[in-house]
Formats: sequence, structure tokens, C-alpha cells
Amino acid sequence: MRVEDLPISDQVKHILTENGYDTLYPPQADAISAGALLGKNVVLASPTASGKTLVAELAVLKKVLDEQAKALYLTPLRALASEKYEEFRKYSKLEKQDGHRVRIAITSGDYDRSDEHLGSYDIVIATNEKADSLLRHRAKWVSDVALVVADEVHLLNEADRGPTLEVVMTRLRKLNPKIQLLALSATVRNAAEVADWIGASAVTTEWRPVPLKEGVYCENEIHFRDGSSKTIQPITGNPIMDMPLQTIKEGGQALLFTETRRSAVETGRRAAAILSRAASPSEKRSCGLLAQRIRTSGEKTRLSEMLADQVAHGAGFHHAGLHNAHRKIVEDAFREGKIKILAATPTLAAGVNLPARLVVITSHERYEAGYGRYPISVLEYKQFCGRAGRPKYDEYGEAVLIARTEDEREVLFENYVVAEPERLWSKLGVEKVLRPHVLSTIATGFANTEEGLRDFFSSTFYAYQYGPRAIGSRMGDILAYLAKEEMIEYDRHELRATRFGQRVSELYVDPVSAVIIKDGLYRRAADLTDFSFLHLIARTPDIAPRIYPRRGEDEKLAAMAAERAEQFMCETPDELAGSFDPGYEDFLAEVKTAAVLLDWIQETSEDAILNTHRVEPGDVMRLVQISNWLLYSAYELAELFGHKDLRKPLGQLRLRVEKGAMADVIPLLSLQGVGRIRARALHNAGFRTIEDIRKASPSDLTAIPLIGTKLAKKIMEQAGGLIKSEEWEELSATREETEQSLLTEY
Ligand SMILES: Nc1ncnc2c1ncn2[C@@H]1O[C@H](COP(=O)(O)OP(=O)(O)OP(=O)(O)O)[C@@H](O)[C@H]1O
Ligand SMILES: [Mg+2]
Repeated sequence: MRVEDLPISDQVKHILTENGYDTLYPPQADAISAGALLGKNVVLASPTASGKTLVAELAVLKKVLDEQAKALYLTPLRALASEKYEEFRKYSKLEKQDGHRVRIAITSGDYDRSDEHLGSYDIVIATNEKADSLLRHRAKWVSDVALVVADEVHLLNEADRGPTLEVVMTRLRKLNPKIQLLALSATVRNAAEVADWIGASAVTTEWRPVPLKEGVYCENEIHFRDGSSKTIQPITGNPIMDMPLQTIKEGGQALLFTETRRSAVETGRRAAAILSRAASPSEKRSCGLLAQRIRTSGEKTRLSEMLADQVAHGAGFHHAGLHNAHRKIVEDAFREGKIKILAATPTLAAGVNLPARLVVITSHERYEAGYGRYPISVLEYKQFCGRAGRPKYDEYGEAVLIARTEDEREVLFENYVVAEPERLWSKLGVEKVLRPHVLSTIATGFANTEEGLRDFFSSTFYAYQYGPRAIGSRMGDILAYLAKEEMIEYDRHELRATRFGQRVSELYVDPVSAVIIKDGLYRRAADLTDFSFLHLIARTPDIAPRIYPRRGEDEKLAAMAAERAEQFMCETPDELAGSFDPGYEDFLAEVKTAAVLLDWIQETSEDAILNTHRVEPGDVMRLVQISNWLLYSAYELAELFGHKDLRKPLGQLRLRVEKGAMADVIPLLSLQGVGRIRARALHNAGFRTIEDIRKASPSDLTAIPLIGTKLAKKIMEQAGGLIKSEEWEELSATREETEQSLLTEY
């Protein structure tokens, strides 16, 4: 099927041809034959890189241009939402029938809003969680959505995030029974089941635009599924290095998936050591600049220094412990071909387009505390493989597992290379997973009787797979809990959310978290401090990641808890019972999590947090983000329950957590380009307020080592100070920017 023959506006065809699309890939043609452009529900389950996004783009544009309707594009991750947004942006020059241009929005985060302004956009790209929160706020525009794209729908199978997607899809269908659903999935065994659930036709294919050779390495030889094989020169004797080196020689780049963060760092380090001997002067220069960018982006830590050292030689690592800014630099550099070998944990696997000619899956096992080692699923294995050989970048791809013996080679071949991916199973049926969704179903008025609730949940994928009764049996306990905690009330047979229940649903926190916070706010503490509040939120099930003690830390944490015994807003476990009480370790983890946050708001550097608590910057960022949200929720609940005196401390603490700073520098943090490090430097130099800066002379500011002339000017402009151009010219001519002054703060 050719692009010019598509039943879609000429403007779209024009943009597609401009971007090098002239013929549809077979899975795309199949999806269109199944009615994707005629308003039909379609599940497209096809291999990685088979061009699923384009089908979604076409269906979306068809709705927007031909029917003046609105489309919602759901993705599981923020990073994917951004990638999709970038891809959709090329359509913003299209003109609709009313003469206006197509408007595209991206939205994620900040869950306590209905974002009515999104109503003026034609295409909204959202994370699944954001979409769920918008539904809870009953955003009016959502009922105008005529097409929903659910990307990476195989996520239904994941315990932590699948249920949200499932509930969002169910809700959108209830809201507008005529809505068109387009679900994009990896190849899974029961795509037909997913399709049947949403009344769709299933299109499943095995087709891939770029050949992807999957195989297993054993003793200097890769055996591929297609029967071919490839000899690897044993340059270093380690296949994890030898295979990428050969790929680089052949003009490609390599992505190595590792099991742990630590092995990602170590693998990157080895690769850097080997590549350092081979780099050309121009490569050295561009990698050197890259390393400098890492060094001047955000705070320096042992981790970021290791990354910069590796990147300087054209290798690197990528894992969730890295600061977002550093992760982004690494991803971009790999995309631009500056990093030749990248070692990454599975965080990099889902849906992204990367130029990896070779993917090596260095370990097919995972470890989980209390569970032991277990092999990864075929589905996950396929996602790793799928990063190799992306059409934009390579003519073919290779994905390789590593075996130590012939026997192992056969097993891996059998269990992965030629294995069929698993079935998807709904994970909605667990009480704690179901509970928030039951509350929000009542709070948003999707159901106002028990029967209505059952009816709603009987439309989920869980009920489809396990039968409607399976959910019904859990409903009783959940309703009893919600009623006991006064989140819902009965008016004879009618169910209603109380103001508390309503607010909990909107705040997008787990009902259990809300109960913990509410009880804490009433109970107070003999000595109410920042630690009290930080520990309170660290107790909630929403806190993530909750930071568990390392070996040998228990004693220190128990001592800290004893010292702060008066500060807890809850009952604390008896220390003596400690080792017998299974909850005691959780308690120590709460204390540790609060201790990390406390250090953070006392301006302890990211590096010191890494050294003392072994918590990496990426984890600090995530902890900060969720804590910020929980403190906001605590503030809102304090408001709801009339704890007027707690509003100020909670409000201030939230600001400090957001910025990682003491209260005295908060006013300075509103300046662009000024983060907690520069704010402290300004403060130390005597600038306490914006007003102080307004009165300053330029050379007062540039005397601070962390502030160069460019930034000084920007700060003065924001503060509304006097700027004489001659003075600035003289200053910039005499002062050079130092590495310190180039720092970007986040
Ligand atoms: N008809 C086409 N002609 C040329 N290139 C195409 C065509 N369709 C898609 N592509 C390119 O193929 C690449 C992969 O597409 P896409 O990201 O949609 O894959 P996917 O099926 O969603 O894979 P994954 O399962 O990994 O998410 C993109 O770079 C896209 O630009
Ligand atoms: Mg995709």
C-alpha cells in the first residue's frame, strides 16, 4: 500500500513523503485494511520496530482532520510521551477544516488538576497515570475524545502499572461507547483475547522492516536463528567486549543490557578502557566536549564523574540511578553516534528508537530479594532484542544471548530465540491494586451502587479473563475498608464518596496513604519537626523508592529513631522486639527514607548522600518528586480537616523538598539559572533577597566564582537591576567563563 493511495488528506501525504515515508509496511497496511482509518477498534500486535506509531498517526489525523474530533495518545512512560510528541509535532502545520492549525499537547505529572485548557488541543499525548488523574477530575474535554491510542498495551501484564491502563481504557469506553480504540502491542500470544475484550479486530504479524538476527554466542561463534553463524575475533577474550568491537569495526554501535546498575557501570568502564586506545583525534575532541557537558550539568557525584570518564572515550552506562539530565545526555550521544558502546539496565528497553546494530543481553536472569534468581520472560527478552536494527538507523540488527556451554546454548535457543512470547494476564485482581480504582469509580460517579460497581468492573480485562465474579468477591472487603475510613458512605443502596474520599481520589494517592497521613495529622507528635512530616510520608505505600537499610546500618538507624522518639506522628515499634518483628525492617526503612530527605533539605550534596546513604541521584530525584506530591497531599488534607496551624510548616517543607534547600535561600530560587548551589553562594555573599540583587553592581555578582558574566546579566535582568551596557562589555571582555560558572542547575 502506497502513501499516496491512502484515504487521507493530501496535506498529510505531503508531510509523510517529505519525511521519507512512501510505502506502508505490511503490518501498517493490514491495520488499515482492518479498519483503523474507518473508526474500527484494532489491536495491532507486531514486532518491535514494525512501525506501529505510524498507524496511530494516520488514525489520529484522520479523526482530527476529517471529523474535527479529538484524539488521546496514551503511553506508559514520560520519555516515550516526549518521543511521541516530537514525532507528532511535524503535523502541527496541518490545517483543519475550520482553518485553524492542528494543535498538539503533551501532559504528564501534576495529578491534582483537570487541565481544562487541554480541551483546546486536537491531539493530547499523556501518560497512562496522567490520563487516569484527568478522568478522576472529570475533565470535561475527555468526553469529546473520539479516538484513543493505547501504546505498549502489553503493559497490561505488569503488576505495578498494568491495572491503571486497564481501568483507563475501561473508563474511556464507558464515557463514550462510540470511542475508537487503537491498541499497539508487542507480539504476544493472546492478542486475540485483548482484541475480543475491547471489541476490536486483532492484527498480528511477524514482519519486521529491518532483519533482526537473534542468536546465541558460545565459544567465539554466534549461532543465529536463521541457521547462519558468525565468528567473533577473540580480541579481549571477553565476548561482551569482543562482539561490540567487531560491530564497531563493521560501522555499527552496540547496546549491552546488564542485570544490575553496578554491572552496567563496570561494563561501561571496561568498554571505555578498550576504546580509549582506538579513538581518532576528532572523536576524542567530540567525546571530550560531551564529558565536559556531563561535568557541568547538575551536581558532580562519584557516579557522574565515572560517567564523564567513560563518555570521554566513547563508551557509557545508563541506569535509573543517574540524574535525569545525565541520562538524557547519554541517550542523545548514543543517538548521535558519539557513544559507541552503551551498557544499560532494562530501564532503556521499552519502545524507544536507538541506533543499536548489536544488542547483547548479558544476563537472562534477574534477582529479587526474598524470591531468588529467575529467568526473564520471553516478552522482556523480545523488548531488548527489539532495540537492535531500527529502520531509521540500521539496515539490519543482531541480538545475542551469551552461553558458556553448548548445553546452555541449546537451552537459551529453545527458551528465548525460538520461543513464543507469553500470554498477557490482567493484574487488577489484587485488593490493594483494586482499592484506589474502586474509590475513584465511586468518586467520579461511574458507579453509585454496588451493582453499578460490579457492572463497571465486569468490563475490565480482568473480568474478561477470570470472569466477573472474581472481582465481585474482593469488592466486599474493599467497600468495608473505604466505609470504615469514611471515604464512602451509604445512603440506603446508594454509594457516595465523602469529601475525604473525593479528595483522595483526586489527589491520586493510595487510600491507605491518605489514612496514614490523616491519622498522623490528628495525632501530631510531642515534638513536631520536619522529620515528623518526612517520616509520616515515608510510611505511606506511595513513597517510592522506599530506601532499605544496608548491611550494618540498622544500629545507626535504630539510634536515630530513639533519639527522635518524640517526633513520630505514629506508634513506633518496640526496639527490643526489633529482630522478632517483621515490620521492624520496614520501620527502619521509613526512618532511612526520612533521613535521606532530611539531608536533602539541609543542602547536603548529592555526592554526600550517595556516600553516606548509598542512594544515587536518580533515586533521590524520584524520591523528591513523590515526596513533593505527598506533602502537597498532606497540605490539602490538613486543609480539609481544619488543621490550620499545619498548613504553613507543610507548605514550607514542600518547597524545601522540591528545591533541596534551607528556608533562607528559597526567595533566591525563583531566579532562572539559580539552583540550590548558586542560591547558597549568593546568600553567603550577602544577597538574601531579590531586592538585594537589584541593588547590586554587576561586578558584585561576577565576583562569585559560580557566576559568569552571562548568568550575572540574566540574574540582574530578572531582578530588575540597572544594566549599563559599557560596564557589561568591559566585564565580559576581562572575565573568562570557568567550568564552575558554566554549571547548569536543575
Ligand atoms: N512506512 C514506513 N516507511 C519508512 N519508515 C518507517 C515506516 N513506518 C515506520 N517507519 C520507521 O520505523 C521506525 C520504527 O517505528 P516505530 O517506533 O513506530 O516502531 P514500533 O512498532 O512502535 O516498535 P516498538 O515495539 O519497539 O515500540 C521509526 O523510526 C519510523 O520512522
Ligand atoms: Mg512503539
